[in-house]
Amino acid sequence: MGRLDLNAAAGHLRVAKAGDLDGILALEQAAFPPEDCFPRRSWRRLLVTPSALCLVVDERKVIASIAWLLRSTSSLARMYSLAVHPDARGRGLGRRLVAESLRKLPRRVDTLGLEVRSDNGAAVGLYCAIGFIETARLPDYYGPGRSGLRMRASLTAVTQALSRRS
Ligand SMILES: CC(C)(COP(=O)(O)OP(=O)(O)OC[C@H]1O[C@@H](n2cnc3c(N)ncnc32)[C@H](O)[C@@H]1OP(=O)(O)O)[C@@H](O)C(=O)NCCC(=O)NCCS
Repeated sequence: MGRLDLNAAAGHLRVAKAGDLDGILALEQAAFPPEDCFPRRSWRRLLVTPSALCLVVDERKVIASIAWLLRSTSSLARMYSLAVHPDARGRGLGRRLVAESLRKLPRRVDTLGLEVRSDNGAAVGLYCAIGFIETARLPDYYGPGRSGLRMRASLTAVTQALSRRS
């Protein structure tokens, strides 16, 4: 993918479909180191299950995506993945994706959770900026020597933090 222009970064946000599988996988490969990409079979399942909410931003290609895992009996939504193409970063797209996705979560959800690599400064920066708080350190969570953080937030806190910026 060549450099994206600003219009592309403003792209079209919608619920992901099964046909987005290849686009999402291509985005993942561009956005994550290979060892952190989720397998094709996981995404294929996610795109058709009612227990996940997946959104994409596309222009000619998928340039950003977010996926939340849901349980029919739980008020917790777990962020499974968030990715913005390297050429589209730093323009508020990650923040926008989180904000738009929260509006589409089921009404029972009041708490948000995620795990993130401790050394992922951009993602940790985003999550802290929108109200997530570290609740646990997870040594070797992503493999030997690759620790993680567990973070939690109330939906209200994140919604308020995001609305202060929009
Ligand atoms: C994390 C990621 C989604 C951020 O997307 P983005 O569109 O660049 O983020 P935004 O432009 O919306 O930035 C929102 C906030 O995040 C934080 N942030 C973004 N990039 C940052 C960086 N490089 N360092 C520190 N904080 C950063 C800032 O608080 C920023 O707010 P500000 O612009 O007012 O300073 C993107 O870097 C990415 O896709 N990374 C690779 C995939 C990944 O790590 N996903 C998370 C897995 S848990």
